[in-house]
Amino acid sequence: MRQVTVTEHLLQHQKKSPMATGRFTLLLNELILSAKLISREVTKAGLVDVLGFTGETNVQGEKVRKLDEFANNVLIHRLRRSGVLCAMASEENGDLIQVSGDLPHGDYILIFDPLDGSSNIDVNVSIGTIFSIYRRPLHKSPGAPSLAEVLQRCDKQVAAGYFIYGSSTMMVYTTGNGVHGFTLDPSVGEFLLSHPDMKIPESGRIYSVNESYWNSWDTATQSAVTHFRNAKNARGKPYSSRYIGSLVADFHRNLLYGGIFMYPARRGEDGSYSGKLRLTCEAAPMAFIVEQAGGMATDGVNRIMEYTPTELHQRVPLFVGSLEDVRAVREIMLRGGCDTVPGR
Ligand code: AHG
Ligand code: MN
Ligand code: MN
Repeated sequence: MRQVTVTEHLLQHQKKSPMATGRFTLLLNELILSAKLISREVTKAGLVDVLGFTGETNVQGEKVRKLDEFANNVLIHRLRRSGVLCAMASEENGDLIQVSGDLPHGDYILIFDPLDGSSNIDVNVSIGTIFSIYRRPLHKSPGAPSLAEVLQRCDKQVAAGYFIYGSSTMMVYTTGNGVHGFTLDPSVGEFLLSHPDMKIPESGRIYSVNESYWNSWDTATQSAVTHFRNAKNARGKPYSSRYIGSLVADFHRNLLYGGIFMYPARRGEDGSYSGKLRLTCEAAPMAFIVEQAGGMATDGVNRIMEYTPTELHQRVPLFVGSLEDVRAVREIMLRGGCDTVPGR
């Protein structure tokens, strides 16, 4: 079988995709090299001193692990010198990461979750890196882009993808021409096309949700989860429950097998409801990928791709996966008078 690398695949599709420019290829290659460095470090976990916490707390109020910090530093260091970006944003940084004036820069904006599934790092469970790419809309001013230029409607993404550090390391990405998966062959150090034109089954057999939050969900959300647990669904029998706790890993499994991942809004101590997952670096890229694979992503009711973020670290409820399953949740939410979904 002929082995196709990511770059070859992009070039082959160049005629079809306006994204397959030299500059975009450069950006993707820098992301790939960063992921290889992260993957190498992840596989050494336990042998070298990369487990545990740094002692810092990030902008999300979460304790930073050493591998979170390593992954973030690798991505910032490599991408800021790539010459193709004008700004970056990371889950780990409160503000935009500007590309300084004395470095070459370009038109692309990169938003990323350097290491997703942090709580699984120290126990050898799959984790990942998620990325989302936009173009700077218009050069209104010669300087660095403002936050408003970065916070674009999610359907303005020009590419999105993830790397999963699991039983093998894979890259899955879309530029709006389907979803393609590549597996890292460690012996040659290249990602080779292993899953061309991925499609998520129309309905699934797996539901993924952290059910320990049951008591903090509204009744519509409880009804939606119950739908997958009992036999009164289109499948005619209960779905299997699988929850890894790394969005990338839960999403990837459901992409291949079919099913739904849910992170509903939870009632906080002040009585208000909010989601946990970040719109710009988690929900939006997964929404782009799943739609390109024939699936669906909502906040329970509204399409994620129609959200325009109002802040960099905005959180949203997320229901993502097979078309029929996410649709079923939407119907239940609308019937149940769901009051936990924030307005857009
Ligand atoms: P991160 O490690 O980047 O902070 O993301 C963790 C996220 C996501 O990967 C996962 O689906 C979810 O948090 C798990 O949260 P719970 O532990 O609340 O279920
Ligand atoms: Mn994450
Ligand atoms: Mn993270």
